[in-house]
Order: sequence, then structure tokens, then C-alpha cells
Amino acid sequence: MSAKKFQDKVAIITGSGSGIGKATAIELVKNGASVVLNGRNQKRLTLAENEIKALGGKVISVCGDVSIPGQAKNLVDKTIETFGKLDILINNAGVSMRGDFSELNPEVFKTVFETNVLGVVNATIPAMPHIKKSRGSIVFVSSLAGIRGLPGLSAYCSSKMALRAIAESIRIEEAKSKIHVGLIFVGITEIEHEKKTIAADGSLVVIKDRSNFKVQTTSSVARAILKNISKRKFRTTLTGIGKLNAFMQPILPGLVEKILIRSIDKIKKRS
Ligand SMILES: NC(=O)c1ccc[n+]([C@@H]2O[C@H](COP(=O)([O-])OP(=O)(O)OC[C@H]3O[C@@H](n4cnc5c(N)ncnc54)[C@H](OP(=O)(O)O)[C@@H]3O)[C@@H](O)[C@H]2O)c1
Repeated sequence: MSAKKFQDKVAIITGSGSGIGKATAIELVKNGASVVLNGRNQKRLTLAENEIKALGGKVISVCGDVSIPGQAKNLVDKTIETFGKLDILINNAGVSMRGDFSELNPEVFKTVFETNVLGVVNATIPAMPHIKKSRGSIVFVSSLAGIRGLPGLSAYCSSKMALRAIAESIRIEEAKSKIHVGLIFVGITEIEHEKKTIAADGSLVVIKDRSNFKVQTTSSVARAILKNISKRKFRTTLTGIGKLNAFMQPILPGLVEKILIRSIDKIKKRS
């Protein structure tokens, strides 16, 4: 990728105080973009903002919860106030959960959908007039869990599958406005130390350490997101297992299910 592929572009990355979102903001800045960080934790955002400023990047952070419509709109408004335009919205903010469906407190579904689906809706609707004006990009960060339902992840899988439906609808509705819509199916990736997930009863628990098995780095995911945008691709599926799953699921769903049932203990141990 050439050094300044995103020169003068303005990008919002939701959930960018940590993980994949922060890595994507860093990659965009290295490629010439101005970035707007977002998350609910001001302390984490300030640390990320300082890290990006040290790279010489133009950056602001807008603290806010995208599951609240007014706060998501404020993120877009502050971007326009500061930079005068918006070229890229990366819907990255997301929460995960663990637990078999039969054991779930139904509130788990509500919490997951509030951020992973409504958070995306709340940020994307006010961003659209600006993205249409710039003929820019809207990117949805989904997961391999958005390709087919996986054990212990029903709320997460269904929230990530919803992103595909939203992305497909927008692509057709906006075919004439020449905007780019990208959908990224991310595979298992390194996580921040002590990252939490929502347990079946709705409490927060620390996710198991992933250092013992092979995972993608956040910066490799970030580079794949940038490539999706610069090539204006629709779908990007990451990792070998992800590509295999995306290929096999529509043609041999029964076989995929059999493999998953056989591997259920291994899947649960890793998640
Ligand atoms: N890591 C993986 O293995 C993996 C695999 C597939 C897909 N993904 C997806 O990739 C995205 C990033 O995940 P990650 O692993 O980088 O996790 P992460 O480090 O926890 O990043 C998620 C970010 O979203 C923010 N956030 C959560 N809820 C929010 C809300 N309602 N409003 C605003 N910000 C919110 C969090 O910050 P605050 O808590 O400060 O708000 C956090 O900075 C997620 O959509 C995730 O589902 C991750």
C-alpha cells in the first residue's frame, strides 16, 4: 500500500480506544488520514489520542456510547464541526458474550444488540448524508461468528449477522450514490489484557488468555480493513478457516454443522 493512500480523508472509528479500532486508527493516520476516536471510557481515549498525536496524526476523540442515538449523532456532528467533512465511518464498537442459549438471561441479547446493532444504526444514519457527499465508505466490522451460528455465542452471532443484512440493504438503496459499503468478517484476534465479555447471567467476566494459540494481530486486521476501503470491496473474510467456512457454509451446511458438533469442546475451550 502506498504511503499516503488516505491523504486528507476524515475517518470516524467507533470503539477505537483499544484493540482493532485503535489499530485501525493508527494505520489510517500512518496513511495520511485524520481520525476521530470514540468509546465510552475517556481515560482510554485520551491515551489512544496521545499515542496517535505522537505519530504526528490529526486526531480528536469524542467520548460517547453509540447505543444512545444522541451520543452517536454527536460523534458525527463533532467530526463535521472539526474537520468539515466525513469520508469514512468504521463501525467497529462491539461487545461479546458467552453462554449456551438455554442458560442466558434474556438481557444479554438486549445488551449485545444495543451496541452491536443499534450502535451501528445510530452512528450510520446521521453519517450517511456526509458519506454520500464525499462518496466515501461505510464499513461494518463483523466476525466469522457472523457467517453461521456458533455454540455459546448465539447473541453475538445474531448481532454480527444483522450487520450483513444492513450492509446488503444499504448497498442496493445507495447504488446510485456511489458510496462504498464494506463488510469485514474478522477471525480470532489478539485482545487487550483483561478484556471482558458478558457471561450468561449478564455479569462481566475476563476473556480467557489467547497467548497459547495462533491469533491475528490487531494491526493485520487494521491493514485488511484499509485494503477493503481502498479497493472498495464489499466483503473481506479474514483467516484461512474463515475463508473455508464462508466457502463451505452455503454449499455444505450439513457438513459444517457436523464438524462443529464434533469440535464443540475445542470451540468452547478457546472462546
Ligand atoms: N478480537 C476478536 O477476536 C474479534 C473477532 C471478530 C470480530 N471482532 C470485532 O471487532 C471489533 C473490535 O473488537 P476488539 O477485539 O478490538 O475489542 P475491544 O478491544 O474490546 O474493542 C471494542 C471497543 O468498543 C468500545 N465500545 C464497546 N461498546 C461501546 C459503545 N456502546 N459505544 C462506544 N464504544 C463502545 C470499547 O470501549 P469502551 O468500553 O471504552 O466503550 C472498546 O474500545 C468488535 O466489533 C468485535 O466484535 C473481534
